[in-house]
Amino acid sequence: MHSAETSAPRPRRFTASGPLTGRIRVPGDKSISHRSIMLGALAVGRTRVTGLLEGEDVMSTAAAMRAMGASIERLAHGEWVIDGVGVGGLLQPKQALDMGNSGTSTRLLMGLVASHAITATFIGDASLSKRPMGRVIDPLSQMGADFTSAPGGRLPLTLRGIAPAVPISYRLPVASAQVKSAVLLAGLNTPGVTTVIEPVPTRDHSERILRGFGADLTVEVAADGTRTIRLTGEAELRPQTIEVPGDPSSAAFFVVAALLVPGSDLVIENVGLNPTRAALLGVLRDMGGQIEELDRRDVGGEPVADLRVRHSALTGIAVDPAVVPSMVDEFPVLFVAAALASGRTVTTGLEELRVKESDRITVMRVALEQAGATVTETDDGLIIDGTGGEPLRGTDNAPVATHLDHRIAMSMAVAGLASRAGVDIDDTRPIATSFPVFEALLAKASGQAGEAA
Ligand code: S3P
Repeated sequence: MHSAETSAPRPRRFTASGPLTGRIRVPGDKSISHRSIMLGALAVGRTRVTGLLEGEDVMSTAAAMRAMGASIERLAHGEWVIDGVGVGGLLQPKQALDMGNSGTSTRLLMGLVASHAITATFIGDASLSKRPMGRVIDPLSQMGADFTSAPGGRLPLTLRGIAPAVPISYRLPVASAQVKSAVLLAGLNTPGVTTVIEPVPTRDHSERILRGFGADLTVEVAADGTRTIRLTGEAELRPQTIEVPGDPSSAAFFVVAALLVPGSDLVIENVGLNPTRAALLGVLRDMGGQIEELDRRDVGGEPVADLRVRHSALTGIAVDPAVVPSMVDEFPVLFVAAALASGRTVTTGLEELRVKESDRITVMRVALEQAGATVTETDDGLIIDGTGGEPLRGTDNAPVATHLDHRIAMSMAVAGLASRAGVDIDDTRPIATSFPVFEALLAKASGQAGEAA
């Protein structure tokens, strides 16, 4: 089981640090790691993956694919080898699939199971059990799968898949790469053409990797930006050798930390810069952040660069809601940057943040207020009046509550670096879901190697 429910909470105070300097490398991209394992497990033959994120969420995906017949192993030098069962070859799992904290594992695997004639039960931790699955149940039901869930379309949930499933054309009602991916993955074992229409583009890792594995997938972009993705089913996937680039969502914490801590000059190597993920960098540059891209290159079919980030005086801005899907996971740490900027930052269009691992609008408002920031919550965002570069006061009595949300914990850790009294966090265990080496890297970059967790 996932660590945050089997061990005692691990509170910690994050205090003002020296400048962040030198070179660090963040772990592999979480979205690409999940997809590498899933598609490797469905290919015929052996897929090899380097740079895989070895976080709890990705391990939940690996455990589930093993339970459905794939062989997935880590070799001594850190490479992963996956022997797939072939599209249509997933086996009935003998036990409930424990998804831990991972919404991506749950929703994408629901897609895979939906078009196989097997039954699977999905369970997860307290955070995941609150998250809406109706957004995936709806299209997968149209394809013929059958569901029993906890009230409100929540986990625990039992899915009875069907083969052959019915190909559908589905227009996404929410901008969600997870919903898009669930339908496309269900389409892999469905006869005919499965179509997803995406009015607002979301991360396109599924499209890239499906093509890489040899699926017949086309993307048509209309004049208004609407994307129509068509996948021809009953695909035969060819095994691949994949190098996973560094996760821009993990790099984000170090980008903001280096911008905020005086004297910092940090290089973060090998950061994925897929345009459907990289909007945070543009927003921070608009606020005055000095972020350079060095040695732009291609890794595993994704654009990558090393980022050089220097301490900068930031100015608040109104963030264009059109960029939200391309930085949906980065708002908690952007709020921290805004809390230290001069002037007002206004964010809107963030409704989806309320259904992430926690309600990231309310939870960040409360946490930042506890640390001394000036924040107003609206229905769909936060308005933050920054300190103009002065450190935050820091928390006094109670620690901030992270609600089993890794990104709240890491964002408030960054706030602690830019505070006078330090920021107390109730529990750092959730960090291991996406970024197990976060604390060690922070200690390394800020020259406090002895304090690594
Ligand atoms: C992800 C999509 C996003 C993101 C999540 C990973 C993915 O979720 O928040 O961390 O890998 O497809 P939504 O699709 O719900 O926005």
